[in-house]
Amino acid sequence: MNVLILGSGGREHTIAHQISKSPGCNTLFVAPGNAGTSSCATNLKLDILNFEEVAKSIKTHEIQMLIVGPEAPLVEGIKDYFDEREEFSDLKIVGPSKRGALLEGSKERAKEFMKSHQVPTAAYQSFSEKTLEAGKEFLKTMHPPYVLKADGLAGGKGVLILTHLKEAQDELENMLTNSKFGIASEKVVIEEFLNGIELSVFVLTDGKNYITLPNAKDYKRIGEADTGLNTGGMGAISPVPFADEAFMRKVDEKIIKPSIDGLYKEDIDFTGFLFIGLMKVGDEPFVVEYNVRMGDPETEVVIPRIKNDLLDVLSKTTEGKIQEVQLEIDAQHAATVMLVSGGYPGTYEKGKVVSGLDKTEEDEKVFVCHAGTKKENDQVLTNGGRVIAVTAFGDTFQRALEKAYENVNHINFKGMYYRKDLGKDLV
Ligand code: AMP
Ligand code: GLY
Repeated sequence: MNVLILGSGGREHTIAHQISKSPGCNTLFVAPGNAGTSSCATNLKLDILNFEEVAKSIKTHEIQMLIVGPEAPLVEGIKDYFDEREEFSDLKIVGPSKRGALLEGSKERAKEFMKSHQVPTAAYQSFSEKTLEAGKEFLKTMHPPYVLKADGLAGGKGVLILTHLKEAQDELENMLTNSKFGIASEKVVIEEFLNGIELSVFVLTDGKNYITLPNAKDYKRIGEADTGLNTGGMGAISPVPFADEAFMRKVDEKIIKPSIDGLYKEDIDFTGFLFIGLMKVGDEPFVVEYNVRMGDPETEVVIPRIKNDLLDVLSKTTEGKIQEVQLEIDAQHAATVMLVSGGYPGTYEKGKVVSGLDKTEEDEKVFVCHAGTKKENDQVLTNGGRVIAVTAFGDTFQRALEKAYENVNHINFKGMYYRKDLGKDLV
């Protein structure tokens, strides 16, 4: 089978690396890809939001499976685009329809969905410019800290958590009337603050049945001890030590099953990954957000722990036969450490030479995954904020982290930064 993966991050390199090992994979393409994907696949220069361009490439390269990495093309309706065209009726697509993707594309929609299917989540109300004053009054009835969420996609930056009422009211006004997050904040969800510890749960579904993939914990803040600005993710571990079997059973009964049943009942075409961001409050799980794709850097620790042939698992998913998949999970722990450009998540420079990649171990215990990189004249250059994710395995998450850090020590580029405290919060 010829396969095309859309995206250019660590998530896409990890998926490409795994699929390239599948006996059923004939030619593998990644668009636009990075320096890492070019070593296990053919990179295609494509604008992944230009569906006509993607369609042309799918015809030229006789692609049979399309895997959509990031959320933007899904929210823009890439699945519907191909479904509406007879000539692509045989194309297998991993990724939900536009209606499905709205679970990530609109916080208000996600909250309404959870409410109607009794999925535990923080209490909320949503407001628009017209109801700004009601929103300010509503804030008065809430306890601090105040959680304000832009309704639409805001690149992970649309959530504000504020301590003071006045500040929360001002920011609400900023979001609704001064377009603080552009059209993403035309509507704002105000919700109750959940005091707990976060984890990520991943589900693969054919829209009716599902399998639960390994869970993960992501380190979101730029600074050590979880300080400073939010990032896309500075590292991750899998499995999550504080999510024991009893808790995960609860997650399955109270969160995953009603979510998938809800999609089915609403007749939503959802074939692909559902990433559920959870808060563990005491012993109870609450949904913080849905994403309609895999997480990054969570993919770097979740996907390599799956021992099955990934292409086969995804094929069964697109054929509506996911119940035939018997998932085999590696008992080893995985950890990934993200190396980022100096200045990230603010402004940073690109084009720095990445050295030492040849000195890292490349075996079943270590995988050096590329995120924002590109190849030029046989050199690997930085090409984004998050540059390289070093994933390693071990009998415990501490061992996995040690091994990852040992390999990080070989790699260097000007301005390179990474968190040295991953896992310290868990011991
Ligand atoms: P989201 O984009 O909805 O995942 O929110 C971004 C981050 O804000 C989450 O990863 C949490 O750390 C935090 N957050 C979001 N909603 C809440 C909430 N209701 N209570 C506490 N923290 C939250
Ligand atoms: N690491 C968080 C995300 O992928 O949204």
